[in-house]
Amino acid sequence: MTAVPHSITAASALPAGPQVWLAPRLDESRLAMMAGLTRDDEHARCNDLKRISDRERFLTGRLLARQALSHASGETWPCTAWSLIPGPNGKPYVAAPDGNLQISIAHSADMVAVAVSPFHDVGIDVERMDGAARIEPSVLSDRERRVLAGCRDASAEFIRLWTMKEAYAKRTGAGVGMDFAALDLDWVPDRIEQRIELGDCTLDCRTVATSRGTYSVALAWTGGAPADWRMRDAA
Ligand SMILES: CC(C)(COP(=O)(O)OP(=O)(O)OC[C@H]1O[C@@H](n2cnc3c(N)ncnc32)[C@H](O)[C@@H]1OP(=O)(O)O)[C@@H](O)C(=O)NCCC(=O)NCCS
Repeated sequence: MTAVPHSITAASALPAGPQVWLAPRLDESRLAMMAGLTRDDEHARCNDLKRISDRERFLTGRLLARQALSHASGETWPCTAWSLIPGPNGKPYVAAPDGNLQISIAHSADMVAVAVSPFHDVGIDVERMDGAARIEPSVLSDRERRVLAGCRDASAEFIRLWTMKEAYAKRTGAGVGMDFAALDLDWVPDRIEQRIELGDCTLDCRTVATSRGTYSVALAWTGGAPADWRMRDAA
């Protein structure tokens, strides 16, 4: 079925930079509304997930992505109009109705994050910060390992570093195939907000305290326009 827009999308109506949406994971009963929103392949992927919490994260991500895309289009297209397809490495793409919009999705524990960007590639990652994370030295550069060794809370700093590396990898679509140790980030420990410029890519990292825990959220994007961060009760 061809979706009918409320009005014709003008490229100039799109936001200049990326929009970030954070939302709590919805429970399955509230996700019943997804029935008319997802594609058959998304239903199949969801049904393959054994744990309820995984299905809830997946579906909340798909709902939030469609809400974010509709918002970025100036509500030109309703949530039901959006078709997302996985690219070769699993990176999702907007197939219709407006392929000018780029999308990235992430989930961790009780939080889901989505980034939408006009024209330019975008990557997002979110990781829960409560509790001690196991530090994985193989994904760090020599310099990052040295800085981390002197940190007051090395576990929290590792999570911040990792979210930035994953956001960077998800922007390019490299995913797990990336050489994470080769990405040497000149980050400043103990900051709840920071920005790193890497050539034409900007990396923002924020520590966000919510009623569902504390999360590190990182956004990677090109294009230089400012990012717009929002929190949503994804209802
Ligand atoms: C798939 C990967 C991109 C992210 O996986 P993850 O951290 O488990 O999960 P996230 O919630 O952050 O991201 C999952 C989303 O990324 C998207 N995604 C998958 N592959 C992607 C790729 N190659 N590029 C961009 N986005 C991708 C999908 O939208 C997916 O959500 P969906 O399945 O609901 O659509 C990959 O980088 C990965 O598995 N990384 C972890 C592996 C690792 O090395 N861990 C140890 C280091 S401490």
